[in-house]
Parts: sequence; C-alpha cells; structure tokens
Amino acid sequence: MSKRFESRVALVTGGARGIGRGVVERLAAEGAAVGIVDLRHDLAQAAADAVIEAGGRALAFGGDVSKRETLATAAVTLKEQFGSLDILVSNAMWVRYGPIAELTEETVQRMVGTGFMSVVWGIQVGAEHMTAGGSIVNIASAAAFLGIPQAMIYCGVKSGVLGLTRSAATDLGPRGIRVNAVAPGSVETEGVRINVDPEMVKLRIAKTPMRRLGQVDDIAAAVCYLASSDSSWVTGECIKVDGGVTHAFL
Ligand SMILES: NC(=O)c1ccc[n+]([C@@H]2O[C@H](COP(=O)([O-])OP(=O)(O)OC[C@H]3O[C@@H](n4cnc5c(N)ncnc54)[C@H](O)[C@@H]3O)[C@@H](O)[C@H]2O)c1
Repeated sequence: MSKRFESRVALVTGGARGIGRGVVERLAAEGAAVGIVDLRHDLAQAAADAVIEAGGRALAFGGDVSKRETLATAAVTLKEQFGSLDILVSNAMWVRYGPIAELTEETVQRMVGTGFMSVVWGIQVGAEHMTAGGSIVNIASAAAFLGIPQAMIYCGVKSGVLGLTRSAATDLGPRGIRVNAVAPGSVETEGVRINVDPEMVKLRIAKTPMRRLGQVDDIAAAVCYLASSDSSWVTGECIKVDGGVTHAFL
C-alpha cells in the first residue's frame, strides 16, 4: 500500500471500534500518526496498541466528544507529541432509534451532543490547529438523504452534519483547509448489531443494489481519499458509500 500519510498526524473520534477503528488502521497503515478519542478509553488504548505493534504511531484519549474540551485537549497533545494536526475525522456518535412519542430529552441530547456538537467542535478545533493542506472528514450517513422510520433525530443530526460541512468548507477553503463528509449505508459494525433488528438488516440488504452490507474498509477507503492530497480540489462535498441504497426506489 502506498504511504499517502507519511509525516501526517490524524485525530479520529470513536476510533476504538467499528468504522472509526477501520479508519484508524488504514490511516496508520499508510503512515499517519493517529490519535484515537473514545468514551471507551480501554478500547481506544487497545486500538492504539495494535497500531504501535504494527510499527505505527498512536495515542489513545478517553473522553466525551460532545465536550469541546475533549477534542481541544487531544489536538494540543497530538501537536506536542507528533508536531502537527493535519487530519480530523469526526466519526463518533451514540445512536438509538424509536418512536417519536418515546424520545426522551436525555436520548435526544445525547444523540445531538455526540453526532452534531462533536462535529462543530471538531471543525472548530481543526480550524484552530490546522495549516494549509489540513483535511476534516465528517461521517454522515445515508440517513441524511432518506426518511427512515423511527430515526427522526438520527436523520436530522446527519443532515445537519452535511450543512456544517458545506458551510465550514467555504470558511476554511481560503486557508487551504478542506472539509468533506462520507455518508455510509448500513455497515457491519457493533453499532448496527445493537441498534438494528436482524430482520431489518435483511430488508436493508434486499433494498441495496449491491445486495450486501458495507464493510468498515469500504468507508475507510473513502475517508482516506478525502483525507489525502488525492482529493486536494474537493471540499464541501459528501461521498455516499452505500452500495447504491440512496438511489434505489424499491
Ligand atoms: N454502522 C453503520 O451502518 C453506519 C451507517 C451510517 C453511518 N454510520 C456512522 O458512522 C459512525 C460510526 O458508526 P459505527 O457503526 O462504527 O459505530 P459504533 O457504535 O460501532 O462505534 C462508535 C464509537 O463511538 C464511541 N462513542 C460513542 N459515544 C461517544 C462519546 N460521547 N464520546 C466519545 N466516543 C463515543 C463508541 O464508544 C464507539 O467506539 C457514526 O457516526 C455512525 O452514525 C454508521
């Protein structure tokens, strides 16, 4: 594999498992030093240890991404340890689905905090610490383009992420910092196993033109394209990586 990220430093939120961990592994395999921020410090440390064992550079941070301080502290520490912050992947989100009438304030605030506010703080921290060539990649969802039943907050949060991405791209473009998004369809992760009924998973596969769930590496490949100089004239964009599900009527 070519080393597109030699001498680059990345921060990945929710990098302890699932899509985030796939992104961490791919960035590290291509030469990046990677900071992993996750509520599960133990799993973040395990992910960092795996990178280090494979000959890479990584640091784990435990913390809640809905708090600005978590991202700010990680960015400062990465700059101290590795010299810069060049790539920021806002991936972490806590998700629950359910009927509108059963949404509690706590659930809504946690979803908005982890899925939307964390992206705001990621952009702000990236803007503060990155120089020209920096790349921010926000993980949205196919849900940003669809009306999914019992997923009002999720669809709203992920649509909001696209708005943040477009606007921040116009603010930061003149400084040479790009802001893009990746919108995955259903990917085989712990998050999907917890939240989505197995029958619903079958239905989703049947409605997906490519007739399979996504794998974390499908998403990591698109994130790495946007993080790298291969996409140096792409900003404010969202790449759907969803097996075609957002184009399928039936
Ligand atoms: N898996 C899918 O099918 C799918 C589809 C579309 C979009 N996405 C998006 O991709 C991203 C990752 O999804 P996943 O399926 O890998 O999720 P996951 O639940 O498997 O992993 C999420 C990670 O985020 C961490 N996290 C949760 N709340 C946090 C907080 N407050 N602070 C710090 N870390 C926190 C978790 O500990 C976990 O390690 C999410 O933004 C999700 O909405 C996933």
